[in-house]
Amino acid sequence: MSQSPYQVISDSSATISSDVVWHKHAVTHDDRVTAKGHKPCVLWFTGLSGSGKSTIANAVDVQLHQLNVHTYVLDGDNVRHGLNGDLGFADKDRIENIRRVGEVSNLFVDAGLIVLTAFISPFESDRQQARDKLTEGQFLEVFIDTPLAVCESRDPKGLYKKARSGEIKHFTGIDSDYESPVDPEIHVKTDNRSVEECAKDVVDYLLVNGFIENRQGK
Ligand code: ADX
Repeated sequence: MSQSPYQVISDSSATISSDVVWHKHAVTHDDRVTAKGHKPCVLWFTGLSGSGKSTIANAVDVQLHQLNVHTYVLDGDNVRHGLNGDLGFADKDRIENIRRVGEVSNLFVDAGLIVLTAFISPFESDRQQARDKLTEGQFLEVFIDTPLAVCESRDPKGLYKKARSGEIKHFTGIDSDYESPVDPEIHVKTDNRSVEECAKDVVDYLLVNGFIENRQGK
């Protein structure tokens, strides 16, 4: 019987039947990485609502695409329209949201992609669980560090206003916690910097650390 290469992270209520056997595929992870021509990883963007996670992740995606890197963006608001459409914003729902995204990211990394996830992912323990699923060095935490006051003044979706008036409950930074990363691989301070400058911090990290090479035009 083949063993799953994954460490299964699941909530305590879920069990895997002994009748479910891991099926080993003929095309291996290494085959896929070779075909892609760069190292796969997850760029796990975390930060407050309105901090710029999705905007910067998309700008990084564009720059990587120009370098012929194979990527995919998983975005909190979008994933909540489909896969996680059954989840709200109570702590237990956020935990399940991040658990599922961790699982999906792991599959995309297995396929050889650089995955960009843009979720508030407010709890350190959940981000750690997602990290623990991946091979060491494949999980890169990207802290989009924008002060709450700046996010609130931007308020792109009008949600802070609603949260302050009590129309929305459990809003991150207002009446629900955000635990800042302690030691992120990439710390992007956004205040008074352009989206392009912030995106370049991330792309430069990938270049310097050998995940990708500058093969534009090849
Ligand atoms: S997470 O906390 O579970 O990681 P996620 O990134 O998926 O959150 O979704 C956050 C987005 O949902 C926000 O950018 C915002 O547009 C929207 N949203 C709606 N209600 C809330 C809320 N109570 N707290 C935070 N974000 C909310």
